[in-house]
Amino acid sequence: MNYPVIEFPWLGNGMMIALIATIHVIVSHGIAIGVTALMVSLEYRGLKTKNEQLIGVARRLSKWVLIITTTVGAMTGVGIWFVTSVIQPDSIGSLLRIFFWAWFAEWIVFITEVVLLIIYYYTWDTWKGEKRKIHNRIGMVLGVFGWLTAMIITGILSAKLTPGKWTETLSFWNAFLNPTYVPSLAFRTFIAVLLAVSLISLPLRIMIKDAKLRKEVFKVFSVWNAITIPGILISGIWYLLSIPDEAADLIIWATGMPEDLFTILHIVGLALFLIFAFWMAVKPEKVPVILTFAIFITSMAFIGEFEGIRESVRKPYVIYNYMYANGVAAQDLDKFKEEGYLAHSAASPIKEVTADNQLEAGRELYKGQCITCHTVDGWRTKRAFADRLDGWDEEGLAGYIATLHETRPFMPPFAGTDEEREALAAYLIKVSNEGIDTDLTQASAEADNK
Ligand code: HEC
Repeated sequence: MNYPVIEFPWLGNGMMIALIATIHVIVSHGIAIGVTALMVSLEYRGLKTKNEQLIGVARRLSKWVLIITTTVGAMTGVGIWFVTSVIQPDSIGSLLRIFFWAWFAEWIVFITEVVLLIIYYYTWDTWKGEKRKIHNRIGMVLGVFGWLTAMIITGILSAKLTPGKWTETLSFWNAFLNPTYVPSLAFRTFIAVLLAVSLISLPLRIMIKDAKLRKEVFKVFSVWNAITIPGILISGIWYLLSIPDEAADLIIWATGMPEDLFTILHIVGLALFLIFAFWMAVKPEKVPVILTFAIFITSMAFIGEFEGIRESVRKPYVIYNYMYANGVAAQDLDKFKEEGYLAHSAASPIKEVTADNQLEAGRELYKGQCITCHTVDGWRTKRAFADRLDGWDEEGLAGYIATLHETRPFMPPFAGTDEEREALAAYLIKVSNEGIDTDLTQASAEADNK
């Protein structure tokens, strides 16, 4: 059997990655970095002001940090690996070749983080007197390790959009310390803490009945707000100025919103955060539940949007100027056009289009070059061929495929011969009219198993 190409029908492969990645970002940034920072600063303030109740809040948070990081955090972390390697093996393969040691280091850092977290959680009662300060220091080191995981991963993620000199030198450090590395890392750091404040203010607002304690907790949070909100704005603008113009132009498109709505929603969102931060600073004991609720929802929406944009603006590439979103390396384009895509595909059991295998060959081409973004059927009607190809004929589609990248610059150019292009068109027209042909799927599955 060759390397399997996995198709998540209806939902779409891109959406599958986005779902797991968004949950992972909420946990890895919001909880592992952000809530850890809040928890440790509550403990610090509690020790300083001899406020045992405040330390109690930190202690309760530590239980949740431990549970969530070691379950959802670890599972979605591995989940990203799994889902990206089955969906887009070529891209993850290239990244692994460039960043092997970074990933190795990431693993060591994550293990250290978990060990520190376990020490932190299990020594609340046993470390007394002066040792409580050490407990708090362990928490600080834990926060640093949580941040180190982001420091490493950000090098890899930002290189996908701005590989910089790496495309010429192929040097690890050129890729890692790429042009958007520092602004991305700063942006993510501030986001992590603000996300944590947004996520836990609502439950704390409801659960802490004692107004005096609530005031103390929110006072600590408002110090963080004063750092993170300006931090996000400054690093965000810096980031936008460092990405390629073509990518910046795709931002609003990536959200799927009309420009006016985009602008209005973002102004409202920012205003909401400013009101929230102001309220927390001035009347911390009286922050309205509804406001904490609105902030919770807004921050979740923002993270989902941020991940979506970060992935979409890179189009048509997955690694900018180096590899297209469908895993075709830019340098192979001409070769595939001349010698055929199937002939070079590690995944396709069919190597050549013939008179009898046109539809099967078309299916392999669809799996190889289109499923990163498209489905046959599905909830995203703009991308589901059953909806998009209504009224198209085979010849028209074959012609269109030759110009994919010109008509819609976020699509990669088709990489294959004329026969392959016609086979793809024939397959797509057939399945978009008749649904997924089970005989064909069966034939192709049998071929896969050989
Ligand atoms: C990087 C993602 C991506 C890849 C890869 C991709 N497409 Fe698309 N394609 C899109 C998006 C997004 C749209 C919808 C654009 C819109 O209407 O907003 C689209 C739209 C289309 C349309 C409708 C165009 C129109 O003008 O009505 C066709 C046809 C199409 N794609 C064919 C293909 C084929 C065939 C492949 C594989 C060879 C492919 N695409 C690969 C992202 C992609």
